[in-house]
Amino acid sequence: MATMSHTILVVGGAGYIGSHMVKALLAEGYRVVTLDNLSTGYRDAVVGGEFILGDMNDRALLRAVFTDHAISAVMHFASYIQVGESVTAPSKYYENNVTNTLALLDAMMEKNIRRFIFSSSAAVYGNPIRVPIDEGHPKAPINPYGRSKWMVEQILSDYETAYGLKSISLRYFNAAGADPGGQLGERHEPETHLIPLILQAASGRRPSISIFGNDYDTPDGTCIRDYVHVADLCQAHGLALQRLLQDGASGVFNLGNGNGFSVMEVIRAAREVTGKDITLEIKNRREGDPPRLVADSTRAIQELAWRPRFASLSAIIADAWAWERRLQSH
Ligand code: UFG
Repeated sequence: MATMSHTILVVGGAGYIGSHMVKALLAEGYRVVTLDNLSTGYRDAVVGGEFILGDMNDRALLRAVFTDHAISAVMHFASYIQVGESVTAPSKYYENNVTNTLALLDAMMEKNIRRFIFSSSAAVYGNPIRVPIDEGHPKAPINPYGRSKWMVEQILSDYETAYGLKSISLRYFNAAGADPGGQLGERHEPETHLIPLILQAASGRRPSISIFGNDYDTPDGTCIRDYVHVADLCQAHGLALQRLLQDGASGVFNLGNGNGFSVMEVIRAAREVTGKDITLEIKNRREGDPPRLVADSTRAIQELAWRPRFASLSAIIADAWAWERRLQSH
């Protein structure tokens, strides 16, 4: 298999999406090296390949990694992701998500490694002026998290002009779900995402789920999001990787299913999947939540041949529920 000869460096491979990616790459026959400082990831989430504990801005370490391994491409998942925290601690976000990414890119340039896949976010669009959102939608992030992602995308474009770096930025909408094989899942500390919090309420690890606002201009008053299964995100990364390995062009792609579900709809679907009664509490709006974020992913479908396999909300919740029950039993 052609993939056998390629070694991929996965930075942030011990985190939620990165750990699923490591597993997917190994299944495809790639050799994998994971670099993670375990600030938010888990060593036991890295199911194979080589694991290196360290920071992506550790130039000496990266030199050694790039000398010891013939790395064909780098995938970068090592970002801080909490929007609210990014507002109160912007320094932390710009330092890790931008400055440390620059250090990683510069180490790559020094060793002539010029293929890069970047975890970007729908947060680059800010409050949408039209929905569904295509890639040409204006980029107007409304918080430091989103700005950090948009800055890196712009840096990547400048690095292509100056140094010939080929990159693909994947703008995730709401990443959710868990490894369909039941081995991996979401383990954020603290957890802030809707689906795992609902499922913790279903399993009894939490008393209830808070709904942050039910007076939005949406049919049931709660915010609408486009949930996309982590396994489908990994599929898109695999396709992006193939494109770069075949010396294809750089690009930017939305990743979402194009279906919006309100917070209330997600809770209802979770009640059905779990068979549990889930107590909800209506709370105030959360700062900075746009009412409706839905992706137009036509470009990924057409140009990458992306074919989401777990697009239904109940499939996403079912896999996340299997993982929640596993966590609960430990
Ligand atoms: N929500 C609740 N109660 C909760 C948690 C969330 O009602 O306890 C609501 C939120 O207000 C929002 C929706 O559920 O309307 C989804 O919230 P999440 O926190 O799960 O996800 P976000 O849409 O806020 O954020 C996600 C990613 C971010 C990324 C953003 C845009 O987590 O990293 O999508 O791409 F920036």
